[in-house]
Amino acid sequence: MTARIIDGNALSAEVRGQLAERAAALKAKGITPCLAVILVGEDPASAVYVRNKVAACEKAGMRSLRDVYSPDVDPAVVFKRIAELNADPSVHGILVQLPLPRHFDSEAVLEAISPEKDVDGFHAENVGALMQGNPRFIPCTPYGVMKMLESANVPLKGAEVVIVGRSNIVGKPMAMLLLAQSCTVTICHSQSKDLAFHTRRADILVAAVGRAKMITGDMIKPGATVIDVGINRTPEGKLCGDVDFETAKEVAGAITPVPGGVGPMTITMLLANTLEAAERTQMRKAK
Ligand code: GUN
Repeated sequence: MTARIIDGNALSAEVRGQLAERAAALKAKGITPCLAVILVGEDPASAVYVRNKVAACEKAGMRSLRDVYSPDVDPAVVFKRIAELNADPSVHGILVQLPLPRHFDSEAVLEAISPEKDVDGFHAENVGALMQGNPRFIPCTPYGVMKMLESANVPLKGAEVVIVGRSNIVGKPMAMLLLAQSCTVTICHSQSKDLAFHTRRADILVAAVGRAKMITGDMIKPGATVIDVGINRTPEGKLCGDVDFETAKEVAGAITPVPGGVGPMTITMLLANTLEAAERTQMRKAK
């Protein structure tokens, strides 16, 4: 039997349609949701991600600003720009694309963003809020995965979840969100012993390591839901995930493809967070 495909493009289109309606309603009240994106350096993948984020904003009727800096820019210039954006009431969300060049203190940059505009959910205050179970901004990729699980009616309560990857961007917040839904969560990483022992126990397997096709069909429990967060290139230059789709789809019950799975949902949830930030300013105004 081959797995049911959880289609991130279709779900994105549906959610973005709803967001565009909310953005239009807010515009009618005189507020145009606006996302500011900062890119430092020339990493080609980051440049593509930023272009896609800006284009998605425009399409959903939101405004966007894009600041691009050379890889050797003085960090003080970027800090000054973040301070300006923090102070600008017409800007509702601020995102600094990661990774930053090595001469940047990435943590300090993320802390410089106002927590009220931190639509990535990476500021320590927002990380803490998520950990305590009162999220203000949910990091976009794990947020998108939760939406996909919900739309595919995947049972969460008591489910055995194995997350492969312990990053601040995906693995750790993903674990918090699933724990809040009463899953039993295991986080595996590069030092885990016998990875397949863990992955084979998973009712829901989330792969977020950044290594092409490293999760193969024999590592998956029959009928499991497999969420592939990876975006890698094969030696031939084709996009592929962390999961070997061809062998995995023969074992899994449901699976997200790459491309067309988690990727589009990440951008969709960035739009959702930006809109949410803008709606909160309107609610503050109305008080
Ligand atoms: N680099 C890879 N993923 C992300 C993300 O979700 N947000 C930011 N800011 N940078 C990233």
